[in-house]
Amino acid sequence: MLEHRVTLRPTMLSDLDFVVGVEQDAGNRPFITPWERTQHEGAVRFPDARHFIVELDAGRAGFVILQGCRNPNRSVELKRIVLGPKGQGVGRLCVRLLKKMAFTQLGAHRFWLDVKGRNTRAQSLYRSEGYVEEGRLRECVRAEVLPGADGAQSGKNGDRDERAGFDDLIVMSLLKREYEARVAQGLEAA
Ligand SMILES: CC(C)(COP(=O)(O)OP(=O)(O)OC[C@H]1O[C@@H](n2cnc3c(N)ncnc32)[C@H](O)[C@@H]1OP(=O)(O)O)[C@@H](O)C(=O)NCCC(=O)NCCS
Repeated sequence: MLEHRVTLRPTMLSDLDFVVGVEQDAGNRPFITPWERTQHEGAVRFPDARHFIVELDAGRAGFVILQGCRNPNRSVELKRIVLGPKGQGVGRLCVRLLKKMAFTQLGAHRFWLDVKGRNTRAQSLYRSEGYVEEGRLRECVRAEVLPGADGAQSGKNGDRDERAGFDDLIVMSLLKREYEARVAQGLEAA
């Protein structure tokens, strides 16, 4: 694994071509629901959201979006994290920075997200960063079928049935006291 120094800086409107490009990449599309450019522009401008570019020394690596930053229930959502380079530890560093921001700067009581059932990479990242599964919304999103993915095909004789076209959403969260316990255990050192 490479050692990276990761920073998050506010997305500018001039970054949006990059943002839409990385979001539409074939390696990312199956795991998210891509937005229109105007939705990203809204998130850049809207005070309840935070839209950040993930910067490495080598340049832009992806983007992240938080929502609910002014939520009266102090429930902040990790709405999206999308990276170009994968499997190099950048996602984990981003999640750590975002947890710190949510709990120490944005006053979050709960920092939550949803992740597709077939997105095992992201699920294992979130679990290993302390996120707890709250529940599963069964077959609630249309799925791009991933070749060879579990559950992509079902039914007798291998014919696709209706399930293959849908995926679950798993809701996960980390509470402030759980985050603080991780800090006390030295698990959240940046
Ligand atoms: C999900 C994503 C943000 C993770 O970032 P990343 O930089 O690739 O992940 P990391 O390298 O930090 O890996 C973190 C953990 O994920 C898991 N992981 C990484 N690659 C994996 C793979 N191919 N399969 C299963 N788990 C994997 C491992 O548990 C890993 O921990 P480890 O380094 O101790 O082995 C990134 O892969 C991405 O942008 N994916 C496409 C979009 C997406 O899925 N966004 C999240 C939507 S909820």
